[in-house]
Amino acid sequence: MKHESIQVTPHLFQLGVSSFPAYLSMGEIGMIIEGGTGPTTDIIVSQIESLGIDPTRIKYIALTHTHADHVGGYPRIRKLWPHVKIVASPTAAELVQGENFVKEFVRADKMIGDILIDKGEIQEIPPEIDEYRFEVDRIVEEGEKIDLGHGIVWEVFSTPGHSPCHISLFEEKEKHLVAGDMTGFFDPETEEDVFWPNYFQSLELYCDSIKRMAVIPAERILLSHNGVVNMDAKTYMQKALRATEAYHQELVERLANGEDRKAINSEKRDFVISLGPLAYSNVIEFLCNLLTKNSQKENEKGRIDFQID
Ligand SMILES: [Fe+2]
Repeated sequence: MKHESIQVTPHLFQLGVSSFPAYLSMGEIGMIIEGGTGPTTDIIVSQIESLGIDPTRIKYIALTHTHADHVGGYPRIRKLWPHVKIVASPTAAELVQGENFVKEFVRADKMIGDILIDKGEIQEIPPEIDEYRFEVDRIVEEGEKIDLGHGIVWEVFSTPGHSPCHISLFEEKEKHLVAGDMTGFFDPETEEDVFWPNYFQSLELYCDSIKRMAVIPAERILLSHNGVVNMDAKTYMQKALRATEAYHQELVERLANGEDRKAINSEKRDFVISLGPLAYSNVIEFLCNLLTKNSQKENEKGRIDFQID
């Protein structure tokens, strides 16, 4: 099975598989953006080899956030290339030290393997490694810059709401905005603007992050699922916010009409499954329930402003 890398711009490549992509930004030195997954690590490594890039030039892996489907390549790549340093937010640095982080990660990483086998993307789940270490080597704060040389400079933005540790990254020379999972699940291949909003931490913070990123002068959006969206940040963020408002309003109205929460959640689960294989159906249902709860909580607090100025 051959997975080709995609050259997005002169300094940026898309790696991995499209359902769980990672990116490689190359200046004088390189940075992998996204932690990848265990089952796609070999694909990422062989894509870098096929590009003829000397791995000693790759200095960093930047995590957008610490959800298990976005960190899994790191322990394997560090074993292979011990010089690669992990970059993440202060909250991410704390979360990866959590007592159950590795245990939960290993379970979720197997799930991703199963999904990729089902999709025919890989043939088998790679064997476990003896040690999963996720310590963050470089903690980056809002406004901090990561200079890769040749004019490639990434700026860090704190964009919570999907998760408390989420960061987004903007590169001014080539005008990329890495939005990671901050705008939820969206597939640029589909005709319509269908989103599954993912305000797992907080609806209010999620909307605030979207509004803040709408003013970034980016010409394309790099997602943690499904690859690159060729759209300016303002248009994309407006679509994401509109979809979030619609999803939230629907939940609030249905709950107010006395509809059964469980029935709503399983209907939403089926909608999410129809978008593509992301996780086991019980995991999706759990996440749908989290959104229902967060919508209810926010509705009790007052009105959310869904306008971009
Ligand atoms: Fe996530």
